[in-house]
Amino acid sequence: MKTVKFGIVGLGRLGKSHAENIAFKIPNAELLAVCSVVEEEVKEAQKAWGIKYGYTDYNEMIKNDELDAIFIASPSGYHCEQIKLALGKGYHVFSEKPLGLYLEDAMEAKSYVNSHPNQVFMLGFMRRFDKSYAYAKRKIDNGEIGKPVLVRCYGLDPKAAMEPFLKFAKNSYSGGLFLDMAIHDIDLARWYIGSEVEKVWAIGGAYEYEEFNEINDAETGSAMAKFKNGAMGIFVAGRNCAHGYHIETEIIGTKGSLRIGTTPDKNLVTVFDENGVSKECVGGFLERFEEAYLEEVKEFVDCVLTNRKPSLTVEDGVLSTIVGYACKESFESGELVDVKYLEPVMI
Ligand code: NAI
Repeated sequence: MKTVKFGIVGLGRLGKSHAENIAFKIPNAELLAVCSVVEEEVKEAQKAWGIKYGYTDYNEMIKNDELDAIFIASPSGYHCEQIKLALGKGYHVFSEKPLGLYLEDAMEAKSYVNSHPNQVFMLGFMRRFDKSYAYAKRKIDNGEIGKPVLVRCYGLDPKAAMEPFLKFAKNSYSGGLFLDMAIHDIDLARWYIGSEVEKVWAIGGAYEYEEFNEINDAETGSAMAKFKNGAMGIFVAGRNCAHGYHIETEIIGTKGSLRIGTTPDKNLVTVFDENGVSKECVGGFLERFEEAYLEEVKEFVDCVLTNRKPSLTVEDGVLSTIVGYACKESFESGELVDVKYLEPVMI
């Protein structure tokens, strides 16, 4: 195989961008098929990018034997089922996060991935492919900040995206703030600390937008985690950030600390005018993680072409889902939750 021929399912906010990347920006990748339940999206994508096959039914797309890999960018509740179906047909699979919204589904997807060892599976925790996050990981692994003892994260979506979000959330279940947003931070904290979460306590509320009560979700929330090795995690997530898209991570170690994205600058430009001195804020995930979205798919393609396993595993998907789910349970019950693992975890 010289190129990986993709079919993508989901042509929404993120799927469209991934599709365009695969079609034009990823070496050794081709976009052969697009699928969405919305026919207009399929037609538009086919016309705009000259895509050979268009489907409104996922089951039809995965009958296409010209394809090598399926890229899943559909809403989170479909991931596990679509992963299983694609693996069953012999495709390599890249799925957006989270792996699943329920533990049983995530475990089932994991057993499917493990029973298809010759097919590559990768999950879209793209922050691991962001240059700054990867740089911090190397520093931690080199022992430059000693032993990491606390990871503090802010994952805040811009207030400007509130209206479309509420419209989306009323019609489609994303799993709630912790499984949908904090999941990236949970994955990063596990990655940096090198241990699994033992207990979580999560709180939050609807502070400006009452609609969050109706959908049983938090507009802004925070979770505190104790890891099995004694380290701590603090995950602040929200959808009402006035200044823009604020993704910030701090790792405190015994010999120093690292901060990534402390001020979420749009670029290196500082504006001096009658209002004083200011910097603009990055507007959203597509802008902030533009390169990371490319890098993760390049890695997937390389794994397929060189018959190699990605370092980011289905196990990472399961373990982060378990913690995200425990945060959701804690937020809903108001109680400290012991994270229940369905299989023994060592660290
Ligand atoms: P979206 O709602 O904008 O788009 C969903 C797309 O899937 C639409 O094209 C819709 O028509 C299609 N679709 C829905 N049900 C389908 C079905 N049964 N079969 C085929 N197509 C179907 O959603 P968005 O924001 O693009 O999110 C998609 C996924 O990407 C989610 O799982 C989300 O968690 C994840 N995501 C990840 C991000 C990251 O930073 N890694 C950022 C944003 C989203």
